[in-house]
Amino acid sequence: MAEETFISPKKRGRIAVFLSGRGSNFRAIHDAILTGRINADIALVFSNVEDAPGLQTARERGLETLYLNPKLYPNREEYDKEAVKEARKRAIDLICLAGYMRILTPYFCREFRHRIMNIHPALLPSFPGLHVQKKAIDWGVRYSGATVHFVAEEVDMGPIILQAVVPVLQDDTEETLSARILKEEHKIYPEAVRLFFEGRLEVRGRRVFIREND
Ligand code: GAR
Repeated sequence: MAEETFISPKKRGRIAVFLSGRGSNFRAIHDAILTGRINADIALVFSNVEDAPGLQTARERGLETLYLNPKLYPNREEYDKEAVKEARKRAIDLICLAGYMRILTPYFCREFRHRIMNIHPALLPSFPGLHVQKKAIDWGVRYSGATVHFVAEEVDMGPIILQAVVPVLQDDTEETLSARILKEEHKIYPEAVRLFFEGRLEVRGRRVFIREND
């Protein structure tokens, strides 16, 4: 079978940020938009958590927010169908998962194939899942970091866009390592989004190539 190729669109894009908590990556992306680094607008900030601090920040910044209560849907797919509908209504080009602590259903992944990014606080494919900063310390690895990747049906396993390496220090705690990784997250996530809307991300199979600016 021929390898599938995807090239990201060069345009002023419309982003939906999905978050469940603090929202510092959302702020980093929004800040990069406000300073003109990213050619896009955030058309929606979506959450599955009603009192997520990130939603409050979004309101303060004058962005449209939407909370959908998972308890009101019979299953995960019905919930995701509603979320996809809301994204389509707003002609969203890219969904940025930014601390969205809900696994997307295969349905959602297929509907927005190559149009969902995620940030993960480890060097994938090492340490997928949760509490990965602690796992990195417990395992004794010398380096960890952050990964921005496209979301595919297998959790934390989609094509890798950018990574940043962070050394693990002998006296690191989960908190200190998380804080140093987070600093790098705030650099590489906006950068990946910038490259996306400059039309410079080319996905071939599971590899992402960064094209020269034309
Ligand atoms: C970030 O560290 C992000 O990498 C992680 O949650 C945090 C959200 O922080 N995401 C995951 O672990 C996804 N598996 P934020 O709300 O301040 O952006």
